[in-house]
Amino acid sequence: MKYYIKTFGCQMNFNDSERIKGILHHMGYKPADTPEEADLILINTCTIREKPDQKVYSHLGEYKKIKEKRPEVIIGVCGCLAQRMGWQLVEKAPVVDLMFSSFNIHHLPELIQQAQAGYRAIAILEEPPEDEDRMWEFKTVRDNAYCAYVTVMKGCDKHCTYCVVPKTRGRQRSRSLESILEEVRWLVADGVKEIHLLGQNVTAWGQDINIHFSELLYRVAEIPGVERIRFTTGHPSDMDERIAKAMGDIPQICEHLHLPVQSGSNRILKLMERNYTKEEYLEKIHMLREYVPGITFSTDIIVGFPTETEEDFEETLDVLRKVRFEQVFSFKYSPRPDTPAAYMEGQIPDEVKTDRMSRLLSLQKEILAEIARSYEGTVQEVLLESWQDGKLVGRTRTNRWVSVEGSEDMLGKTVRVRITRSQPFSMEGIILEEVEA
Ligand code: SAH
Ligand code: SF4
Ligand code: F3S
Repeated sequence: MKYYIKTFGCQMNFNDSERIKGILHHMGYKPADTPEEADLILINTCTIREKPDQKVYSHLGEYKKIKEKRPEVIIGVCGCLAQRMGWQLVEKAPVVDLMFSSFNIHHLPELIQQAQAGYRAIAILEEPPEDEDRMWEFKTVRDNAYCAYVTVMKGCDKHCTYCVVPKTRGRQRSRSLESILEEVRWLVADGVKEIHLLGQNVTAWGQDINIHFSELLYRVAEIPGVERIRFTTGHPSDMDERIAKAMGDIPQICEHLHLPVQSGSNRILKLMERNYTKEEYLEKIHMLREYVPGITFSTDIIVGFPTETEEDFEETLDVLRKVRFEQVFSFKYSPRPDTPAAYMEGQIPDEVKTDRMSRLLSLQKEILAEIARSYEGTVQEVLLESWQDGKLVGRTRTNRWVSVEGSEDMLGKTVRVRITRSQPFSMEGIILEEVEA
């Protein structure tokens, strides 16, 4: 039996898919190269904006054609759209045989059995944490041998007024320290060098189980063999001095942080219920730079939030100029069902959003060109994580991609590289020496 999984959305969804693959391998399934060859086709969905929703429906349309030719094929939908839509999704797309959400991943074996017996199998209800935690018993199946994601918490307890995530993934549930450390130990034994801790709001990890996130960082770093640590996504309001200090103290933590600002206007931030001001955000950036010399940042921006004026938008551009992010992920505000912002007055016309977006992108392009140039001639530590077109490819600690000449047997090693050429989205360099782990 073969499976095919199509994954949309964030790194947490990606990591869920890796776990789903683990369950399927455990059941004896093998991966298929294309959906046409598969006996089980799964779509792990995202519903953060309207566009990903549409993509899911168009993929389901394609998979329907496969099922018309081979009615025994099982088509499943999981992830955030499944959770948000529930039965409505099946009504809209009757081709769906099975459906589950991020709460019920570990039920996949039973669901497949039910679907094979000709029933429609659906599990989207929230479960008691002890039941949900059974999903950690399955190991992930990863494409990247050296860098691995570890989901450390589920859900989100914030109430950003534009965001659908608290509704699709539920309340914040921190995974226990022991369960996380056990997975990290297993990953390291499997050859992993870089551990990337994940949560919608990872800096809030532990708040519901009375531990501070910095404690997790120290404990992960104690595990022999962990060479690099990253974590995503930090929320500015939980990003405190203890975390900054831990980042500075722990040698394995990379000098990079994704810290979404969303907007530079205090009025808009308030409407978004982000719980920080532009000034507080900039202070946190300053504090992080003090504790972690050389740290680089990336961010998320929403343009055209309801009532956003030209002045509000200028404040956002000002944050870009002040922080000089290495990467900016910008999105046009997309109204989501049952979120407060969708019902606010003053929705912004699409032309205005498009215009602001393109101005934001062109400013960021200039900033990035300067940042890229500043890397030329520098020496960077690079973990060689993949082999592409005859070259070794890896990331600097500051999260920039570099390709170098070398042989495939160097994969998994960390090397010092002199950067010979640096462009906005890629760099080239030559290896100087290996870094002792
Ligand atoms: N938990 C993370 C973000 C998760 S969603 C955080 O708090 O920052 C990833 C990004 O999608 C968000 O940072 C935001 O920029 C964007 N996003 C979320 N909802 C959106 C919406 N309704 N319209 C446009 N962009 C949105
Ligand atoms: Fe959504 Fe806000 Fe939670 Fe991020 S912190 S997932 S934007 S509600
Ligand atoms: Fe999308 Fe769900 Fe992630 S809505 S961004 S897949 S948490």
